[in-house]
Amino acid sequence: MLSNLDALRRYSLVVADTGDIDAVARWKPQDATTNPSLLLASAEDPRYQPLVDRAVRQARGDVAAAMDGLFVQFGVEILKHVAGRVSTEVDARLSFDTEGSIDRARRLIALYEKAGVSRERVLIKLASTWEGIRAAARLEREGIHCNMTLLFSFAQAVACAEAGVTLISPFVGRIYDWHKQARKVDDIPLDDDPGVASVTRIYNYYKKHGYPTQVMGASFRKAGQITALAGCDLLTIAPDLLDKLAKTPGELPRKLSPETAKDVQKIPLDEKAFRWMHNEDAMATDKLAEGIRRFDADARKLEKLITSLAAATV
Ligand code: E4P
Repeated sequence: MLSNLDALRRYSLVVADTGDIDAVARWKPQDATTNPSLLLASAEDPRYQPLVDRAVRQARGDVAAAMDGLFVQFGVEILKHVAGRVSTEVDARLSFDTEGSIDRARRLIALYEKAGVSRERVLIKLASTWEGIRAAARLEREGIHCNMTLLFSFAQAVACAEAGVTLISPFVGRIYDWHKQARKVDDIPLDDDPGVASVTRIYNYYKKHGYPTQVMGASFRKAGQITALAGCDLLTIAPDLLDKLAKTPGELPRKLSPETAKDVQKIPLDEKAFRWMHNEDAMATDKLAEGIRRFDADARKLEKLITSLAAATV
């Protein structure tokens, strides 16, 4: 019998959101996404110790090079199990640094190309700050494709589409978390879920105005949030929720489609308008700032691990 996961695959491209290479091998998704927190968890997993050791050895004491090397080595291994692309995130500390983000993205792509992976199979993940979006606009012109992450506001989505980025990852779960806390409730029903509503609005806007930028719903807390977005271009899903969807039998109705995208007015957005509109959204400003801090904190933990391993190998 058809599972919810099989049904979902009819409408959306299913992506695995994990740094766990074995999980990617098991699920065989089309694409896979990683982030610093997911890669920290994998680097601490004894199964992946040889990968970490190799990155440390090859970097010869250069911690920044070991971090890049490690991210790329996980990406290369993940690509052995997916037909499509892997997303690799740029250091969160560069979130407000356009030139620094461009340099780091070029460095990551050079490492992938050295490992025999073409840039077509990599998405460089950048925070959807104004500076990150400007970096993506330039990288796209060099054929380096970008996945804009930490995307919480409509302003961020509009600016990304205008910049011509390949793909955006609007977050569902973290928006849901914020509203649950603000409303002091344990759950928000799907028909009132602000995370689901945010992705739906963005998807409709993109399709109505013919933007080619792909929409990939991300950050899910429950399977219902995923099925409520059936039809979104891509959905990146953690292994536990993939498992839940695979174990749930039944068809799914398509919720999003270009044909049913509602009429929405086009919004002109320069830097000033972007900053104003984004700042008007308290959830988005909180979550973007917190998201950068969290990814940075996990990247620092990873650096500490690498530093101690490097010291031990001298
Ligand atoms: C994927 O691109 C995101 O980094 C991920 O879905 C975030 O999920 P989280 O909110 O569960 O950390």
